[in-house]
Amino acid sequence: MPVPPDVLERIKKLREEINYHNYRYYVLDSPVISDEEYDALMQELKELEEKYPETITPDSPTQRVGAPPSDKFRTVPHHVPMLSLDDAFTPEEIREFDSRIKRFLNIDHDIEYTLEPKMDGLAVELVYENGVFVLGSTRGDGYNGEDVTNNLRTIPSIPLRLLSLDVPVPSLLEVRGEVYMEKDAFERLNQERREKGLPTFANPRNAAAGSLRQLDPKVTASRPLNIFCYGIGRVEGYSFKTQWEILQTLKKWGLRVNPLIKKVTGIEKAISYHEHLAKIRPELNYEIDGMVIKVNDLELQDRLGTKAKSPRWAIAYKFEAPQNITRIKDIILSVGRTGAVTPVAIMEPVKVGGVTISRATLHNEEEIKRKDIRIGDWVIVRRAGDVIPEVVKPLKERRTGKEKPFVMPKYCPVCGSALVKKPGEAIYRCPNPDCFPRLAKRIAHFVSKPAMDIEGLGPKVVEQLITAGIIRDIPDLYHIKKEDLLSLEGFAEKSAQNLLDAIEKSKHTTLPRFLFALGIRHVGEVTAQLLAKHFKTLDAVMKASVQELEAIQGIGPEVANSIYQWFRDEKNKELIKKLLEAGITIEPVETEEKTLPLEGKSFVFTGSLKSMKRAEAKKLVVSLGGQVQSTVGKHTDFVVVGENPGSKLQKAKQLGIKTITEEEFLEMVGKKK
Ligand code: IVH
Repeated sequence: MPVPPDVLERIKKLREEINYHNYRYYVLDSPVISDEEYDALMQELKELEEKYPETITPDSPTQRVGAPPSDKFRTVPHHVPMLSLDDAFTPEEIREFDSRIKRFLNIDHDIEYTLEPKMDGLAVELVYENGVFVLGSTRGDGYNGEDVTNNLRTIPSIPLRLLSLDVPVPSLLEVRGEVYMEKDAFERLNQERREKGLPTFANPRNAAAGSLRQLDPKVTASRPLNIFCYGIGRVEGYSFKTQWEILQTLKKWGLRVNPLIKKVTGIEKAISYHEHLAKIRPELNYEIDGMVIKVNDLELQDRLGTKAKSPRWAIAYKFEAPQNITRIKDIILSVGRTGAVTPVAIMEPVKVGGVTISRATLHNEEEIKRKDIRIGDWVIVRRAGDVIPEVVKPLKERRTGKEKPFVMPKYCPVCGSALVKKPGEAIYRCPNPDCFPRLAKRIAHFVSKPAMDIEGLGPKVVEQLITAGIIRDIPDLYHIKKEDLLSLEGFAEKSAQNLLDAIEKSKHTTLPRFLFALGIRHVGEVTAQLLAKHFKTLDAVMKASVQELEAIQGIGPEVANSIYQWFRDEKNKELIKKLLEAGITIEPVETEEKTLPLEGKSFVFTGSLKSMKRAEAKKLVVSLGGQVQSTVGKHTDFVVVGENPGSKLQKAKQLGIKTITEEEFLEMVGKKK
C-alpha cells in the first residue's frame, strides 16, 4: 500500500519541527514548547513511522537508539588531522605566544583572537553529507579514530540532520567537538552505580570516555552525554573567513557551541578573559581545564601553519597543570595550633600549575606508610585547583635503594616534649599546651613593629607559617622562599614578594631593636635602649656581668639577672649565632654621644598649652635631650609661656630668663607645621 501523500507531508513536517525544537532546546537553550508538547510530536511521528516503516530514514529524530551492539569499532581516517594544542600556564607565556605570531606574520598591530573554554572531555569528529549525519569518530591518534557513529547518534544534542535556517547546508561538513558529561549528571550516574554496587567513575571525563566507547549503543544512550562543537575539518559547498564565523555558522546549522566563546582584539583582553573564566569555572556545570586562544582570521591561520602536532595559530591557556614529578629531600615535622604534629615533605622545587612548590603535608605517619613514601623518593605531586599540594605516590621504579623510610620522631621539634598518640588516632600531638602559642607569640614579637619591624607579617601569617611547617623557630624566617609563601592561602606572587622584601629589609637593624626583639624577660623597649646606649655592641651586652648590668641607671637587680642568664643559655647563644649567620647586621651605636637638639637645655612651663598636654611637652623635651624643671632658677634656659601663665612668668622676668611662646617652643622642637 503506497504511503498517502498527506502522511508523507505530515512526517516531513513533524521531523522538521522536532529538529527545530531540538535546536531551540540544545543550541539556543531557549525552548518554545513544553516537554509535553515535544513528546506529543515525537509520539505522533513514531506512530506514523510504525504504520509506514518504509518512510523511516536514518536521520529521522526517532532513530537515535536501535543500532545493534557491535563487537569492535572500525578504524576511520580523519581527512584533516585532528591536531593537539600547545599548553601555556602564565600570562608571560601567552604574551610570548602573541609576540611569536606577530614576529612570524611580520605585523605589529593587535591581533584578533577567538577565545573558547577548553572543554575537558574527548574530541570527536562528526561528518555530515548533504546535511545528514553519516559518520562519527573519536580522535584516536589524530590521523585515525574509531567509528562510534551509533553511539554518537544517541547524544540528543547532536543533530542527525543539519538545519538550514539562514544559511544553506554544505554538501560536506566535518565538525569537531568535545563530548562531555555535565557535572550534576555525572554525580547522578555515580550515585546510581553506587546503589547498584557498580564501580563509580573517577571524574566526568572518564565517565564520558567510558560511555562513548561502549559496544552497545543502548548503554551509551543511557548515559547523559553532551557536546560542544568548536571547529571543522573538510567543508564543501561553503566557505569561511574567520573562526568566529565558523562558530556562529555551526550554531545556525543546529550544532551546539559553548555560549562563553568570545572575540577580542589584543592579547591583554584574552588574558583578562582567562581570569574571568577561572573565576566562574566552579559555577559551570561542566569541566573546563583552560581557555583556547585562536587567531581569528583563517587566512592568517593559514600563513602561520602548523608544527608536527599542533598549530602555530592556537594555544591552550591552561588553568592548572594538575601534577608533576619531583624528589623528596627530607621529611620534617610541623606543629599545629592544636598541638598536632604533622610530617611535611620537603621537595626539590617543581612547577605545578604555573606555581613552584617545594613542600607538601603528608598528613600523618600512617599515610606515609600506606603510600610507602620514603626520603629520597621520586614522587608525583599534584595541586588541583587552589588546593594545597599533595604527594600522590612514589615512583617505585625509580628507587636506587638509598631511599630512607620515615621514622616518626619521639619528641616535639619545637619544645622537646615527648609526643603522644591516642589509641585509634593517626595523629601525634605535642602535649605541651604552651608549645604552639608560645612559639607563635615569640615569633610575632620578634617581627613586630618596635622589634624587627617586618611589614606584612602579623600574628595570623606567623601562625600560618608555623602550621605549614615553613618556620619552626625565629631564624627560619630568614630562609623562607617564595614558593613556600605561594603554598599558603591568601598569598599571590606580589604579596609573597612584598613579604620577602620586608624580611630582607629587616636584616639591617639597630641594636635596641634587636635586643628588644629577642624577647628577653624584663627587656622592653626602654631597657633595650639603655643597654644599647651603654654597651654599644651586641658582643658587649652578651659578655656583660651582673654587676656591670646593675650599674646602669634604670636597670635593677632582677632585670640584670634576667639578662645575664638569658645570654648564658646555650639555646639562646645558638639563636643569635643563627640570626647573624642568616645575614642580620646591626647598625653600630654612635660612640661619640650624638648631641641631641635640646642637649643641656632646661625648660620650665607655665600656663596651659593649646597643642598638647603638659606631660607630652615634657616627654618631648626629654626625648630631645633637654631637661624640664618645675621651678624657675638661674640655670633655667627657657620659660615656655602658655595661656594664663602663673607666677613663674614674673620670676623669669625678675631673673632675666628668656621666655618663649608656645609657637616658638613648637618650632624649637620641630613640631611646627
Ligand atoms: S581546537 C588545532 N578548541 O583540546 C586545534 N580544542 O589539545 C585543535 N579541546 O583534542 C583543537 N576544547 O579535545 C580546540 N575549544 C576547543 C577545545 C579543544 C577542548 C580539546 C580537544 C583537543 C584538545 C587539544
